Amino acid sequence: MTPSGKLTINTQQRGTPLGDLFGIFFEDLNHAADGGLYAELVRNRSFEFDPIDHPDYHALSGWAKIERGAGKATIAVDHAHPLNERNTHYAVIDIIEAGDGVGIANLGFNTGIPVRAGESYRFSVYARRDASFAEPVRIAIESEDGVVHAEAVIQVESAEWMRYEAVLTASATDFSGRLTLVTRGTGKLYLDMVSLFPEKTFRDRPNGLRADIAQLLADLKPKFMRFPGGCLVHDGSLSAEDRDSMYRWKNTIGDIAQRPPRRNNWRYHQTLGLGYYEYFQFCEDIGARPIPILPAGYDPHHKRIVPIEELGLWIDDALDLIEFANGDESTEWGSIRAKLGHPESFNLEYIGIGNEEVGAPFFERYAYFHRAIKDKYPEMKIINSSGPFAAGGEYERGWRSARENESDLVDEHYYQSPEWFLANVGRYDRFKADDPKVFLGEYASWGNAYYNALAEAAFMTGLERNAHAVGLACYAPLLCNVDYVNWKPDMIWFNNHEVFGTANYYVQQLFMRHQGDCLLPIEAAGMKASEPSREVTPIRGGFGVGANANAVEYSSIRLINHATGETLSYPDRALDRTGAGDKDIAMLGATDWDDYTLSLKAKKTGGGQWGFAVYFGWTDERQHLQWDIGSWQNQDSIIHSVVGGKGSVLTQSLFEVQNGVEYDLTLRVTGRKILASIDGAAVAETEDHIPYIEPLYYSVSLEEATGDTILKVVNVRCEAETVELAFEGMESGRPLVAEVHELSGYGLADENSFEEPIKIAPRTKNLTVEGTAFAYEFPKHSVTVMRVRGV
Ligand code: AHR
Repeated sequence: MTPSGKLTINTQQRGTPLGDLFGIFFEDLNHAADGGLYAELVRNRSFEFDPIDHPDYHALSGWAKIERGAGKATIAVDHAHPLNERNTHYAVIDIIEAGDGVGIANLGFNTGIPVRAGESYRFSVYARRDASFAEPVRIAIESEDGVVHAEAVIQVESAEWMRYEAVLTASATDFSGRLTLVTRGTGKLYLDMVSLFPEKTFRDRPNGLRADIAQLLADLKPKFMRFPGGCLVHDGSLSAEDRDSMYRWKNTIGDIAQRPPRRNNWRYHQTLGLGYYEYFQFCEDIGARPIPILPAGYDPHHKRIVPIEELGLWIDDALDLIEFANGDESTEWGSIRAKLGHPESFNLEYIGIGNEEVGAPFFERYAYFHRAIKDKYPEMKIINSSGPFAAGGEYERGWRSARENESDLVDEHYYQSPEWFLANVGRYDRFKADDPKVFLGEYASWGNAYYNALAEAAFMTGLERNAHAVGLACYAPLLCNVDYVNWKPDMIWFNNHEVFGTANYYVQQLFMRHQGDCLLPIEAAGMKASEPSREVTPIRGGFGVGANANAVEYSSIRLINHATGETLSYPDRALDRTGAGDKDIAMLGATDWDDYTLSLKAKKTGGGQWGFAVYFGWTDERQHLQWDIGSWQNQDSIIHSVVGGKGSVLTQSLFEVQNGVEYDLTLRVTGRKILASIDGAAVAETEDHIPYIEPLYYSVSLEEATGDTILKVVNVRCEAETVELAFEGMESGRPLVAEVHELSGYGLADENSFEEPIKIAPRTKNLTVEGTAFAYEFPKHSVTVMRVRGV
């Protein structure tokens, strides 16, 4: 093939450092920790499950009574004589009739307790007995129908709580097992913190991590790990003592039996067994810089706000965390870390205050945190927040705050359609090097198909090329247990014994493993022109109104043509979805005008938390634009663009709809530009870009340790693209040697799965060429990383 253009790389001219650019974000949603990365196999080990965590939960969730032969017992949960004041509930087995044994079985996560033949498992329990109970307790891992795979015996010796341990070695492989504790005799047996861990955890650490999931994370070679959330951080009450408090790190360290139970805002129970010490340890183990995110005393979901005069406690939490991570043993918190087993510093360099916060109360509080941290730790890089959307009022407020406070980084979050990512590869081209840096703390295109991964790869070349402005970036969410899904898509999927990385995972892996240390200049010449991904037309088509679990009256509906002055009127519409919990869309008409205003009055007359919805540019449910006013918890005005059923938020600002109040809504559409106003005040101004697809997306970096020049090229188009590659400065007289890692040859809808976990995964080949310039064909729909060896 004749090359259609040329890419010239200057291998000698070092550009912007790439620093810690590509990393990961861990949040305990989708059972990412309990029932996931945290290797504990027992579900509800301390009998602390509670309806606060989930309406279906109770203190014996995950447990079943065992009565064998004529055995009879009652199982209750009590709190009269607790293990400690933070772990108050425990199980009481009251033996009525010993029969062939009575006791309790834990059903584990997913299909049960998974064990593998020949592998050992560490059992532990806190137990006590009453005076009449003296029998041994038989601990076993059994199949669903009672076949014993492993067993051990403990003798409970005291009426006071004592910890007992045993090692169980499995004789068979079974992923649907049960952990059983069975006894005979008479009297009462009390149990708490019933635990079973595989002996083989990641790096064999006690209270450790599931080796297969942790290894997949380690294999990414992330430069950093952001943790512990997400909404998990700021969704909660203000008292650290509350079960549903915001995420308070001090609750998560030390003896696991002393860590309080926590309501996870993703509607399940969080043991906190995977806590801050374990997070820091894991970061160290995988060579990732830790990036903890702390709550700022403000819960934007429930508008809980710490008064400024009480903010000191929260700021102290941040300062103490830095000391916990970095302080030496002479410091209060450094000595606590040392006692936990890590005298050396965890080398904390970054700290985030707040997670995708919106609203003035956060930004008012951020300034206090910022000043206090910088006063004590001037080197600490502090991350501010810019809300959950890629543009709009709150996003701008976050950036304003970051500039005013001189934050080091600003956390941006967005989940959008693949088309949005393709239209925004150049998003950071206009960002300045002397501004705070972007921390793209959460992003993903909606899906785990190869097409999503491809769009993300193209976008990531834009992140890398713009390292002058983008400091850190991580995909989200990271992990998902297939049986406990809160959020899709996710980078890695698992059940209780298998795990696989998605196509998105392998793109992330390519960019992390081959990040490089600094950019190198790359120049394109003679390349084909970019092409729109679909016909470029003004926003035309159907328009209508909606209600979402509420009742709304729309009136004075008009469509005005700004080119001709023509005005069309439409009948009033009253929609009622009160209590229905779903939405109703009433299409009003359609237009092929290029410059028009849709104006209408809207009044909410009853129902749930949603306000109004205006649809435009409508082709069908999967292809349209939408203006939501008072959406999600009645707090936003949002313009969405839906392409192929996948939505993107083009812009957002805060807006709350009052019941019974009539609002004047106007939506001006000019070509693909949108201006939305309420009662005459502009609330949204944006453009719905159709992506122009470049022949290739690329970036190039240098890895100092190897001297490798690393070229990343993404071809999103439906045909192969051949270009000449010239590596200037590599003239050595010897052939040029390159290692090529490539994703190609997949259908755009292809996905990895448990059955085909590496259907989509990079293949590696070696290349030797004479000279420093050669023609190379980048296959259609491909991601290529070419490491050209240093001379
Ligand atoms: O990544 C899932 C969620 O998305 C995070 O908890 C939150 O920060 C964002 O809204």
